[in-house]
Amino acid sequence: MRASEIRTRFLQFFERQDHVVRPSSTLVPGDDPTLLFTNAGMVPFKKVFLGMEEPPEGRRRATTSQKCVRAGGKHNDLEQVGHTARHHTFFEMLGNFSFGDYFKRDAIRFAWEFVTEDLGIAREHLRVSVFETDDEARALWHEVAGLPDSRIYGLGAKDNFWQMADTGPCGPCTEIYVDLAHLAQDFVFPGDASGEWTDRSREEFSTEAFVEGAEAGRFLEIWNLVFMQFDRQPDGTLVPLPKPSVDTGAGLERIAAVMQGKANNFDTDVFEPLLARAEAIVGQDRRAGGHLASFRVIADHARAVSFLLADGVHPSNEGRGYVLRRILRRAVRHAYLLGRREPTLASVVETVIETMGDTYPELRQRAQHLVTTTRAEEERFLATIEGGLARFDELAPQRSTQGSVALRGEISGEDAFRLYDTFGFPIDLTELMARERGYRVDIAGFEQALERQRALSQEERRSRNLGVAADALADLASWERDAAAAELGGAFVGYDRVSVSTRVAAVRHLDGDRVAVLLEESPFYAESGGQVSDHGEILGEGWKVDVDEVRKVDGRVAAVGRLQGALRFGPAQARVPSERRRDTERNHTATHLLHAALREVLGEHVHQAGSVVEPDRLRFDFTHHGPVRPEQLEEVEAKVNRGVWAAVPVTTTQRPYQEAIASGAMALFGEKYGDVVRVVEIPGLSVELCGGTHVRNTSEIGLFRVVQETGVAAGVRRVTALTGPKAYEFLRDRERELARVAESVKAPLDQAVRRVQALVEERRTLERRIEEARRGGGATQVQTLAAAARPLGTAQLVATEVQVEDVKALQALGDALREQLPGTIAVLGARLDEGKATMLAVVSDDLRERGVRADEVVRRVAAAAGGKGGGKPHMAQAGIPDASRLGAALALAATLVGPLVGAP
Ligand code: ALA
Repeated sequence: MRASEIRTRFLQFFERQDHVVRPSSTLVPGDDPTLLFTNAGMVPFKKVFLGMEEPPEGRRRATTSQKCVRAGGKHNDLEQVGHTARHHTFFEMLGNFSFGDYFKRDAIRFAWEFVTEDLGIAREHLRVSVFETDDEARALWHEVAGLPDSRIYGLGAKDNFWQMADTGPCGPCTEIYVDLAHLAQDFVFPGDASGEWTDRSREEFSTEAFVEGAEAGRFLEIWNLVFMQFDRQPDGTLVPLPKPSVDTGAGLERIAAVMQGKANNFDTDVFEPLLARAEAIVGQDRRAGGHLASFRVIADHARAVSFLLADGVHPSNEGRGYVLRRILRRAVRHAYLLGRREPTLASVVETVIETMGDTYPELRQRAQHLVTTTRAEEERFLATIEGGLARFDELAPQRSTQGSVALRGEISGEDAFRLYDTFGFPIDLTELMARERGYRVDIAGFEQALERQRALSQEERRSRNLGVAADALADLASWERDAAAAELGGAFVGYDRVSVSTRVAAVRHLDGDRVAVLLEESPFYAESGGQVSDHGEILGEGWKVDVDEVRKVDGRVAAVGRLQGALRFGPAQARVPSERRRDTERNHTATHLLHAALREVLGEHVHQAGSVVEPDRLRFDFTHHGPVRPEQLEEVEAKVNRGVWAAVPVTTTQRPYQEAIASGAMALFGEKYGDVVRVVEIPGLSVELCGGTHVRNTSEIGLFRVVQETGVAAGVRRVTALTGPKAYEFLRDRERELARVAESVKAPLDQAVRRVQALVEERRTLERRIEEARRGGGATQVQTLAAAARPLGTAQLVATEVQVEDVKALQALGDALREQLPGTIAVLGARLDEGKATMLAVVSDDLRERGVRADEVVRRVAAAAGGKGGGKPHMAQAGIPDASRLGAALALAATLVGPLVGAP
């Protein structure tokens, strides 16, 4: 039975049992800061179990096939993946849930019926475990399934008490196991295995033998039924839930293995096409070279990478993005081990999209984004992996292994940190590689190095922001409270009001004269969703706080700033300067219009990857590969402006999250949303979940102008834009610049461009002429002078007046003669300054070697014109104070110089 059929049968079975079939939630549990990723089927229902939220569609039974990732956080399987038969980073969990409806009896009944009838797994190969004190479950297995006591094993909390995280809903559980020794054709007992559990024909096992067999992979858990009864508190205590509930989980890949008679999940139809694709790219048979684990790592990780990218996680150095990066880099490293030096995973991601895109349409919708991002990220790591591996080899040299691998040494925290910082090696990758070679890594030292770097950059941020550490405010007990106030205050009322008459409810004195204030009602917006905090002031009787920072403290809005005077509890007036706020709102609403326009013009793969909304500008980062073409950018800008000029009213409503999403509202990845969300709608243009402040009508934006588009990371682009007065100022400044250009080219504004073009053209022509003159002109001059040479003794003489620009040109000409005319003495005269002349003499190299000197030449001839000079043997120069004497002196040159070259 194929995996897809198992999934369908499961959901249909529970639909028949009156469960509502719900689609899988995203891998990013938006409203749950205790979790990195959705790691079980119950995660989307956590609040329903806790009694804080209504069940989906008002139904008390639900069933899903939920996408799960277990990497990072409490349930972290990353390291085992590839090396075991059933650890995965990404997997699908089938589940049925009762929210205070049925409990143990029906949960057990449904499970038994589905496993034995719909899947048809033989009863004699099934075993179950129960929490050791849960006699009720034990009795029910007996009664409902007819299982003998000898096949029901009571286990401790480690195995049979389930909780999703360190806090939250939890309870005892009971698990169904299959006996692979009978159900998987390829099951083999490990070579060195012995004991009761290795007896294939045995029917009953002691608890110890069962546990041993489960650990060794003979008994495979396929289904976990959790009886949700408690909410675990941060201090560890268990608070009973309002209504006992049921949460079940069955790993689809495991069941597929059982149904396909395989002992290893990787041998099922889920992974087969992915492994085949990897083999084709690598050009190796996965079972041939001892690299099976590497192939499996690639197949597994391609799924996690695909699904995480599709759910909006982007590779980065923090949080979820970092887990994604680690998974991806681990796969790249394994592909590297297989000899690959180019991207590999990207192609396997294509196969994931092909094989799973029907069930999970988000894969198809963002197919291009998935493939290009994976490839870019692979390339990025491949660029440094070589250097990193070389460095690693130095740190942990491979030595020949003789006998067992004893620990050979330790990689220091600093070195591990450098591998991380310079070469992008995630610490777990370094650790894994070290372990393979019998080294240890000083993890504590690494953490310290990382912490030092974090502290440094935090310090930097803080000094830039003059911020207050959040933890200085977080302890609400340390605030001074107004005894008369019933509440701690801090309610945000600033959506429509920027000035409120209120009262001070609590205060905290900080360093220097800074204070943090909780008002009963606060107009100050605290930075969130990219929108920066408000600034403003709080005025009391005889005191004033200049608010330059706003912080959320446990959901309350605290205003922070410098206090003047003595703060007293009681009435206060809080004000946000309305211009600043209005400008911010213009930019925030424009950001929504921009987001929508980008998606329309560039495609649905565009997702917000970051946003800053300030009074002066907006900055929007989004996923997109390659630059946005100028004409596309123009279209985006035009669309936003059309939205502005259409004067559309902006509405905000509070709606249940699911309902908002179902109506098409865009949720931003990585944002946390509550049960009831605020939906900001610009009808016909944009619907987004957003807690920010907005204009009431798009026309208030006035004008929208993009000023820059750049890349910020692989697959992420950034648009910076202005609105309203700032956009107007920008355009006005541009126009002023243009006016100055027009003025300097002496043309009316509308003809400035033509005039500048003409000037540029003219300049080009002139440059060309000059160049021609310089080359052609110089050459002709030498030729003319050569023709004017007269024999003189054993040499020849050129003595004449020339036309040149300056002394440099005269010397250049002299040099040209000297080089091009062997056996020559040249005496050149030029009138460069009013009434004066310069005389230059040069002697060709062959003459100079015979002892003829240019300085001697110039001395003799210049003297005839009343001038003086000197220089080098090859070139010399003299000044002639009276230019009118130049001609006569040159005419005498042959006579004056002749004796130097044997002429009479
Ligand atoms: N939530 C339970 C599990 O993950 C069913 O195993």
